[in-house]
Amino acid sequence: MVFGQDKSSRSWISLICVLLLHCIEETTCNTHCSRPLSRIVRNQLTEHFYSVFQDRNHEPHSKCPLHASRDLYRIQEGNKTQEYAAKWVCHFCGKAFFSEHHLDVHFDNKHSDKLVKGSTVCLADFCDIFRCDVFEVQRKDYFWEKKLCKEDKLMVRKRRCEALMRSCLPQGNLSVGEEFEILETIGSNTCSLLNCKDYWKRPHNDISAWKIVLYAVVSPFFCMGLIVYYYAIWDYYYGDYPLDTKRSREEEESFSTFGNYRSTPSHLRKRYGERPLMY
Ligand SMILES: *[C@@H]1O[C@H](CO)[C@@H](O)[C@H](O)[C@H]1NC(C)=O
Ligand SMILES: *[C@@H]1O[C@H](CO)[C@@H](O)[C@H](O)[C@H]1NC(C)=O
Ligand SMILES: [Zn+2]
Repeated sequence: MVFGQDKSSRSWISLICVLLLHCIEETTCNTHCSRPLSRIVRNQLTEHFYSVFQDRNHEPHSKCPLHASRDLYRIQEGNKTQEYAAKWVCHFCGKAFFSEHHLDVHFDNKHSDKLVKGSTVCLADFCDIFRCDVFEVQRKDYFWEKKLCKEDKLMVRKRRCEALMRSCLPQGNLSVGEEFEILETIGSNTCSLLNCKDYWKRPHNDISAWKIVLYAVVSPFFCMGLIVYYYAIWDYYYGDYPLDTKRSREEEESFSTFGNYRSTPSHLRKRYGERPLMY
């Protein structure tokens, strides 16, 4: 018995060792910078960060980690185009791929020399500030996340975010007002969303406008389709007797509005209201 226990505990220890080694390997080998997550951050920067500087004819400080020139994947991402829904082209060699993921793998395998040299900035490292988890999976409600949200934890992130943005203010002589205005504008889509109320908000105003148009166009067709469909079903079950008897029944019905007449069409008409059906 003692021997057996000893054996099992030894196997447990070895299992734990293997797991530990595995974890250590994972953390040391995984210096890899996630491309999809970097893309989420990059898209937000393009939309709410670089544009703010461009509009004011400024450039972020060269020491700013978010400066476009320091993005590890800048050259590769700039040499990538999507021609159709399922055609992604590599500009370095002209090869095309079915998906962005395959092109990313190709970049890793064939064009790793095109990474930005001397860059230490992996945009995915800023995911906690740019809320990659909200953009990554498209979900409707975040019930438990909202319930378990810790305001003070997000406050720490917000402070980090504000410090980061301040480090990006343009070089040179900006007035205090100008600096404040830039920080406000950049922060409105990043730092100021880092609280439990706004964290799960997604900017989808443009998408919703587009959706409204789509619904407006599609819903009449859908309703027509439904009407045709139900008419077809009705016709299939109740409408397959000769035309002349139908007509005579209709006449009969119009004379005897109520009573013992039990034909199915009038049943149906009673059930679905007195709407006249077109033939
Ligand atoms: C594409 O790659 C070349 C180097 O091969 C680089 O000089 C150029 O800036 C890249 N294009 C973009 C838009 O980044
Ligand atoms: C900043 O302002 C000072 C004087 O107010 C001027 O001498 C200097 O050239 C300015 N620097 C820049 C980068 O505009
Ligand atoms: Zn290529």
